Amino acid sequence: MNKMRNVFAGVGGALAVLLITTGAMAADSCIDCHTKISPGQVQDWKVSKHAENDVSCSECHGTKHQTAEDYKLAVLPDEAKCKECHQEQYDSFAKGKHNFGWTSLNAIPATHMAPDELIEGGRGCGGCHNMGIKTKAQKKEQRDKGYRYQNNSCDECHTRHSFSKKEAQSPRACQQCHMGYDHPQWEMWSSSKHGERWFAKQNGDLPEGAAAPTCQTCHLPDGTHENHTAWGFLGVRLPLPDDAQAAADRVTILKALGVLDPKTGQPTPILDAVKAVDMARLDQQSWQKERDKMLKICSQCHSSAYAKEQLDMGDSIMMKADRLMAEAITTVAGLYEDGLIKKPAGYPANYPFLLMFMHTNGTAWNKDLDKLSYIDQVLVQMYMKHRMRAYQGFFHVNPDYAYWYGWNEMTKDLGEIKELARVMRATAGKE
Ligand code: HEC
Ligand code: HEC
Ligand code: HEC
Ligand code: HEC
Ligand code: HEC
Ligand code: HEC
Ligand code: HEC
Ligand code: HEC
Repeated sequence: MNKMRNVFAGVGGALAVLLITTGAMAADSCIDCHTKISPGQVQDWKVSKHAENDVSCSECHGTKHQTAEDYKLAVLPDEAKCKECHQEQYDSFAKGKHNFGWTSLNAIPATHMAPDELIEGGRGCGGCHNMGIKTKAQKKEQRDKGYRYQNNSCDECHTRHSFSKKEAQSPRACQQCHMGYDHPQWEMWSSSKHGERWFAKQNGDLPEGAAAPTCQTCHLPDGTHENHTAWGFLGVRLPLPDDAQAAADRVTILKALGVLDPKTGQPTPILDAVKAVDMARLDQQSWQKERDKMLKICSQCHSSAYAKEQLDMGDSIMMKADRLMAEAITTVAGLYEDGLIKKPAGYPANYPFLLMFMHTNGTAWNKDLDKLSYIDQVLVQMYMKHRMRAYQGFFHVNPDYAYWYGWNEMTKDLGEIKELARVMRATAGKE
């Protein structure tokens, strides 16, 4: 754990003293100069457990950079550096879904159509998906493009340089990424009873001991860094449900995700990509395992019968949302089939595709890209924004998100899609 202990264990005492002295001298020169050029940063490190334990600047950044000019010699440490002293957290992080953030981002075609500033620059997709231990090839790609930062995921929750445990225990640590368009978990949780109670405690309106589950209570219990849920982001899984209609609807969605071939119904290479980044639970056992874990957590504060009923209802509202979704997909698919929409470049089949997002509507920054029809955009929004809200809102116990921003908007989208399809057919004289 402690650097000094490691050093003492590894080599003889005299040599150790020498090493510590040089380490401390290097640290001092770093701190002397950086107190002048970036005092806030040094101050932040000073309040950390690292400062208390002599984990100095040079421990993480090396000693090669010594002057104002050679700063590019400083090592920008990735997770392997943290692992040297925090093996347990590194290992559990490596097993979780956060470890797939960068890889799953890059598996999506839309990413490669977005400006670099939003990916490598860490403002759009790349700001939130800078999660996961990067492979050598991924690092090389970044370097080749001229990008140097964003090498570490551990500092996404306990931000540098205070690297605080307490900060990461606050649900606010999750807010920057788990918010907004297609995953507003922060908004849903913070305005639910669960969140309201947490804020009441912060405000002193409820005693310290009052029950108020945070994101971490339910998703990172007992200090684990491994995060998985049963349904996951896409809200699809295998095996198919028993109910024939529900099974047919799920198949329609899987086709629009490009996972099943629209003609043959057979798995496509995209299914392998989904498997490779652990995107969905693909058998009953792996799904049930996550569900059972969650049920156990709810049961700390609710009767398990109550909690089970809540979670079961979450599953059944998804089946109902998927009925709407499948009908919308089938409507748009009919326009493709009848030649009223031309297959955009990059689409895997002559069928609606949900994973290209909204990249272009003729007004895109990149004029070379194919035009995506407006009705396709409404369909993508129905899936990515409104279906997500209907389902995530239910599981996060937020009535307004589940209904008004979710279910209600889905029914509106379906109405719009039907009307647009009717107008398109009428315009083409094919009603
Ligand atoms: C003589 C002053 C000086 C000393 C000594 C010094 N630095 Fe720096 N350091 C700088 C300057 C100047 C920059 C560039 C700042 C900028 O771009 O605004 C920098 C940048 C950095 C960076 C960022 C590198 C990057 O690519 O952006 C790190 C990390 C860093 N220093 C760590 C250290 C460590 C660790 C030590 C001690 C081994 C150290 N510094 C010693 C002046 C110094
Ligand atoms: C426990 C490890 C650790 C320690 C100790 C540490 N840093 Fe860092 N530092 C990091 C990480 C991680 C990054 C982000 C790297 C990246 O983006 O690729 C970073 C980034 C930086 C940067 C560049 C980014 C920025 O925000 O300016 C500077 C400069 C820097 N550190 C200076 C320092 C100084 C000065 C000290 C000592 C007072 C120090 N670091 C101590 C881990 C550490
Ligand atoms: C040379 C060993 C060493 C390295 C490298 C190191 N740490 Fe630490 N870290 C420590 C020690 C020692 C503590 C204090 C442990 C304690 O208090 O039990 C600590 C504590 C922490 C804590 C808990 C702080 C708190 O508020 O209780 C976090 C979080 C942390 N480190 C994150 C990191 C991250 C992220 C990196 C990589 C960027 C890193 N550490 C690199 C040695 C290290
Ligand atoms: C504000 C932060 C943020 C931005 C910006 C963002 N994402 Fe995400 N993304 C997330 C979060 C958080 C999740 C996990 C959400 C969940 O499970 O509900 C996620 C999930 C995903 C997934 C599914 C991963 C899986 O295994 O389930 C893909 C693929 C994805 N995002 C791609 C993108 C692309 C492409 C962009 C840019 C066009 C993007 N994201 C922009 C935060 C973001
Ligand atoms: C998704 C947010 C998140 C990320 C990313 C993250 N952590 Fe943590 N970390 C936490 C939370 C939450 C805790 C507090 C756990 C608890 O309550 O015991 C924590 C605690 C810690 C602690 C303190 C352990 C203790 O009990 O003293 C260390 C050390 C640590 N993390 C290291 C890391 C390292 C190394 C990485 C990168 C491999 C990392 N963390 C990435 C959320 C995160
Ligand atoms: C009371 C427990 C609880 C709390 C608190 C909670 N969640 Fe969840 N979360 C759930 C449940 C239940 C699911 C659905 C699990 C399943 O698939 O069966 C879920 C699903 C998720 C998912 C994946 C599916 C989706 O919604 O896209 C993410 C990501 C997530 N939660 C993040 C968060 C974040 C971030 C917070 C805090 C702002 C939070 N959760 C607070 C219980 C909770
Ligand atoms: C820097 C952005 C970022 C932060 C901060 C962050 N996450 Fe995530 N989270 C993501 C991304 C991106 C994904 C999707 C990873 C992937 O591609 O599979 C994700 C996925 C998840 C999932 C998995 C959902 C599933 O699909 O099963 C859970 C649960 C989760 N995060 C919880 C948390 C919690 C709790 C916190 C705060 C302690 C947190 N996250 C902080 C970006 C973040
Ligand atoms: C740390 C304790 C805790 C955990 C864990 C927890 N809850 Fe709660 N929950 C509460 C409290 C306290 C309330 C408010 C009092 C009440 O309605 O029972 C509440 C309220 C609720 C409500 C009713 C909200 C309302 O408006 O009446 C539902 C539904 C609910 N929780 C479901 C769940 C589910 C599902 C889980 C697991 C995914 C869960 N809770 C986990 C403490 C918890």
